Amino acid sequence: NERDRTHAGVALARDYRTPDGQPDPLSALDQPRIGAPLSRVDGLQKVTGGARFAAEFALEGMVHAALAYSTIARGRITTLDTAAAEAAPGVVLVMTHDNAPTLQSPPVFLTTAQGAAGDDHPVLQNDQVHWNGQPIAVVLAETPEQAEHAASLIRAEYAPEPAVTDFRTAATREPDNVLGGPPSVSVGDAEQAFGTAPRRVDAIYRTPRHNHNAIEPHAVTLAWHDDELMLHDASQCVDHVAYSLAQVFGIAESQVHVSSPFVGGGFGSKTLWQHQILAAAAARVADRPVRLALSREGVHRVVGGRACTEQRVAIGADEQGHFRALIHTGKAAMTAHNNLPEPFTQATRCLYGADHVQLAIRVADLDMLANTFMRAPGESVGTFALESAIDELAEQLDLDPLELRRRNEPERDPTSGLPFSSRHLLEASRAGAERFGWDQRSARPGERYEGEWQIGLGCATATYPYMRMPGAAARITLSRSGAARVDVAAHEMGMGTATVQTQVAAARLGLPVEQVRFNYGDSSLAGVVLAGGSQQTAAIGGAVIAAHRALVEALLELVDGDSPLAGLTIDEIECRDGGLGAVADSARFETYDRILARAGRDELAIEADAAESEELSHFSMHSFGMIFCEAAVSAVTGEVRIRRLLGSFDCGRVLNAKTAASQFRGGMIMGLGLALMEETQFDTRSGRIMNPSLAEYHVPVQMDVPEIEVMWTDIPDPHTPMGARGIGELGITGVGAAVANAVYNACGRRVRELPITLDKLL
Ligand code: MOS
Repeated sequence: NERDRTHAGVALARDYRTPDGQPDPLSALDQPRIGAPLSRVDGLQKVTGGARFAAEFALEGMVHAALAYSTIARGRITTLDTAAAEAAPGVVLVMTHDNAPTLQSPPVFLTTAQGAAGDDHPVLQNDQVHWNGQPIAVVLAETPEQAEHAASLIRAEYAPEPAVTDFRTAATREPDNVLGGPPSVSVGDAEQAFGTAPRRVDAIYRTPRHNHNAIEPHAVTLAWHDDELMLHDASQCVDHVAYSLAQVFGIAESQVHVSSPFVGGGFGSKTLWQHQILAAAAARVADRPVRLALSREGVHRVVGGRACTEQRVAIGADEQGHFRALIHTGKAAMTAHNNLPEPFTQATRCLYGADHVQLAIRVADLDMLANTFMRAPGESVGTFALESAIDELAEQLDLDPLELRRRNEPERDPTSGLPFSSRHLLEASRAGAERFGWDQRSARPGERYEGEWQIGLGCATATYPYMRMPGAAARITLSRSGAARVDVAAHEMGMGTATVQTQVAAARLGLPVEQVRFNYGDSSLAGVVLAGGSQQTAAIGGAVIAAHRALVEALLELVDGDSPLAGLTIDEIECRDGGLGAVADSARFETYDRILARAGRDELAIEADAAESEELSHFSMHSFGMIFCEAAVSAVTGEVRIRRLLGSFDCGRVLNAKTAASQFRGGMIMGLGLALMEETQFDTRSGRIMNPSLAEYHVPVQMDVPEIEVMWTDIPDPHTPMGARGIGELGITGVGAAVANAVYNACGRRVRELPITLDKLL
């Protein structure tokens, strides 16, 4: 409305009342500052080297660590000869299970409330080997080169034991849970309905292991000060890491301080792995600060990645394409020492209305480095299977694949029965199709040629759930000068959090962006926030709403009878122009400076916890999108080039058009890697990862990436803070199938096993 446009004022969070309340006012479309493509607040620091990453802190008296890794998958160490390493130049300490301090097993990620560890194996406590690549020794030396050299001199002999390393033949079991929910979901009798459906597809899809390859390899620089541990870590969960290290070392959580203001990509990997524990233990033994920067190979040995999957998708439909039965089952690799079954059926729970649904995940426990989450765990590989199968069914029915999807758009969540909080997939899909030129697609494969290149178009649905985890809190400090600082123990891994949260806080407080500082990346700050599950933005938003409301209440208490605000209640107040004003009367206004000055205060600091995420128990909440792809397949070599990629998303309110577009592009590029090249080569005889480098583990490079267009509905979700849902993981989902479907449309080859390499097309 006019008033908001004039003053750029934001009324208070009174409207944010889930589930029956009205939208957070920040979701209102006429809020001019929300959604603006503000450039990164830390951009200058990053491009001028001012941003210091975990491996760039130099501590007084610091030594450098290197690791030696096991070369068998399972068994015992019989001999560990460290003499040459100990005698090597610059060596300060060689630590093995013989001289490591006693440590407790780390609490596992998602299994205990603040567990951050990839697995619960004891770290360097005995002679047991649990995976090929497990650290068996730490060397500390004066320089990194000396440490690496000495580590290379360590000689180990083993008594190997039989190891389970072959996913194809390993026994499977039902996991305890999948992301906190049951491992299987069924509605009606899907097998029976499938058996009698007139149209059917039933296929097996396979996806390989993936390893994490963030630009910044994992690193930690740390020091003990008496019984207190201070770490500069690369982290997406500073509080979880502090809690978990405290458990390992048997100290209080308040004795561990984790700082992580800049992170060069996380994607699910920047949690707690053995390297932080080993560095802290070695620092204790040597009584020196330690920097441990994993090599790229080290990341592949020590930090888990995405598990391989084998998935069955069976769809039974009537002649019009309505799904009678939707079956999505299969298995994923896991270990007995972690609890993250790759949740590949998650997307299938909410995407299509089928009369009968059956979803089930089993796991095969292997002797390997524990798998972990990697950008859109489950949805990335699950949508590859589901959305490929839908394309196969569309062809059988002679229907446009978009039309088949449209016919199965559900009214309510098909497995939970809940209403959707906001679902505009069809709008996103229609707008994307128009922009992309979907009508150029030929219905039959292999009809478009340009020289040796066969051209095809494909699409697939993207989806990722909205989450808001408990524990978030925020502290707002308002100063007389009209500057505000917002403190949250949150994370900036490159996605734009610092920028977006500065922008949102500025709008909420009615201050210019330059007057607001968002302070994050430190375990001593307010709340517990995981930068994962694409939920950080909403989690912080919920906390800032609470703190902002508490701040305004506190300001109103400072107001005296002479103030133009006297007598107003919080529900009649908005923040605008560096102060508080009456919503209904533009003349009644007072600056923060004046309110604080009258009260004789230099500043006012308020901390508050986010309200519980009650919205999730009343609504099925997900983001959606449609990915469109144009692929060219060489009839001569089988080479695939992606020529165009477009993502049209429905993700609630976009808070910053620039960082959001970058997030989506990054996700889609990662999706291209998933579709065409990423694959961990795992030797089933030895359980060893054979391509632990970016020379052999392929990710998309500049020449692989086409023009990528990104668009969105920008329809606020009325049940989330700021109207926004998460976007970090949405972009990668659907891309695998969109590429596979485009490749099929180009050349008539249906590839059901990722990555789509040229050998599969010849
Ligand atoms: Mo993401 S895989 O939840 O960091």
